[in-house]
Amino acid sequence: MGEKLRQWFGGLITTIIGLSWGDEGKGEIVCRLSKLLGVDFVVRWQGGPNAGHTVEVEPGKTIVLQHLPSGIIHPEVRCLLGAGMVIDPLTLLEEIQRVRACNITVDSSRLMIDGRATVIWGLSKRLDAALEEAAGTACIGTTKRGIGPAYAQTALRQNLIIFDLLDANRLRARLDRLIEVALEIFRLEITDREDKEWYEGLLAAGQELAACVGDVGQEVRTRIKNGDVGLAEGAQGTLLDVKFGTVPFVTGSYTLAQSVATGLGVPSRCLDRVVGVIKAYVTRVGNGPFPTKLDNEIGRFLQIEGAEKGSVTGRIRDCGAVDALAARWAVAVNGVTDIYLTKLDILTGLATIPVAIAYKIGGIWLKDFPYDPADLNLIEEVEYEYLSGWPTDISGCRDFWDLPIQAQQYVFRLQELIGVPITFIGVGPGQDQQIVVSEEFSRVA
Ligand code: IMP
Repeated sequence: MGEKLRQWFGGLITTIIGLSWGDEGKGEIVCRLSKLLGVDFVVRWQGGPNAGHTVEVEPGKTIVLQHLPSGIIHPEVRCLLGAGMVIDPLTLLEEIQRVRACNITVDSSRLMIDGRATVIWGLSKRLDAALEEAAGTACIGTTKRGIGPAYAQTALRQNLIIFDLLDANRLRARLDRLIEVALEIFRLEITDREDKEWYEGLLAAGQELAACVGDVGQEVRTRIKNGDVGLAEGAQGTLLDVKFGTVPFVTGSYTLAQSVATGLGVPSRCLDRVVGVIKAYVTRVGNGPFPTKLDNEIGRFLQIEGAEKGSVTGRIRDCGAVDALAARWAVAVNGVTDIYLTKLDILTGLATIPVAIAYKIGGIWLKDFPYDPADLNLIEEVEYEYLSGWPTDISGCRDFWDLPIQAQQYVFRLQELIGVPITFIGVGPGQDQQIVVSEEFSRVA
C-alpha cells in the first residue's frame, strides 16, 4: 500500500493543512502519512511554539511537539524548520530534550534549522502580553508565546534571526539596537538584569543549536531534484490565517498551503497534493466567532469524549458541528486535493449529528462562507442538517465498508458537501487506527 500511495502522491511535497481553527490532529496525521508514504523529509514552514502537535511515540505514550516536525518520531525521516517559522530557541531546546528522553535521536543528521528564521525572545513575549492586556475584553486570546509580535518585528525589520545567535558580538550589537528602539517606541521598561538574561540565554541556545543551522530551502530544492518526497506540516489552521482567516482573531502567520513555497524558499512548482485535515466535529480555542459552536449536550459530549483541551496552554476548547460553508471555502482557498477526516470514533454514541449548511444574515440564507469576517458576528441563525449517529464502537475498523451504515452515510454526506474526496479516516489515537479509503469509494461517492 505504501509504494502505491507514494506513486499516487507523486515525488514532490505533499502539504498537510488544517481546514478549521487548528487542533484538527495534523501532527498525528503527519506521523501516519510519513510512515504510509515512506517520506524522506518533513518540514515546518510557519508558526512556532503556539502549535502543540500531540503524537504517539509508542502505543499509549504521547509527546507534544511545538516546533519539531512530527516526522521526528521516525528515525529515517529528516526534519527541517523553514525560514518562515518563528522559533523560541529556549523552548526548542527543552522540546529536543523531551524527544531525546523517548530514545529518539535529534542531532544535525536529523534536524536542520534555517538561519533566516525569526527568533522569539523576551521582547516578543513581553509585547504579546502587553498587547493582549491593552485590548482588554477585545483581546485575541493568544497563546502568549510571542508569535504575533515576532512576525510584526520581522515586518518592522526589528527582529532577531537564528544567524544572530551564532556570534557573540553580532548578537550583542543587534540586541542593543533592538532594545534601544523598543525603549523609545514601545516605552517598555527593560532592566539590565533582563537584558543580561536574554543575551546569555540566546547566546547559549545559539551555541547548542549551531550544528543544526543550515539552508533549508537549498536542502529541499536539492532533495526534490533527486526525487525525494516530503511532507509540509501545517500548524494552526486555515481560519487562523493572518490575512484570509477570521481576522482579527487569527495567528501571526500565513497558514495556507501555498505559503509553503515562501516559508521554505522553494519554487511553488515543488508543491504537489494538499491534504486538508478536518475533525468529524469542529473546535476552537481563543476568542473570535464560532458560528457552529454547540452550547448544549452534544457540545459537552464532544468536549469530554474528544478530550478537547489545549496541549500547549491547557485551555478547554469550545466544540461545535462541522461547518460545511467554512470547510468548502477552506478547501477552495488551499486547493485541497484530499481530505483526512479525524476523530470519527468520537461521534460514536450520538443519536444525531448536526452539520451546518447555511447561515442567515440580514434575513437572507447564505450557503457560502462570508467574504467579510465581520459578517460572522451578524449571523442570526444557522441551518443544520441532522444525520443519524451509530451506537457501535468503530475504533477497530480498518476498512470503510466495515463502518456502520450511518457512519458511511455521514462520511458520504460530508464529502458531498465539501466537494473533495475523503481519502483517509481516523478512528482512534493509535497510529494504526485509520482507514485508507479505497479507490472503489471514490467511484461510488
Ligand atoms: P497566537 O498564534 O498565539 O498569536 O494566537 C492567536 C490565535 O490563534 C488564538 O486564538 C490562539 O488560540 C490561536 N492558536 C494559535 N495556535 C493554535 C493552535 O496550534 N491550535 C489552536 N489554536 C491556535
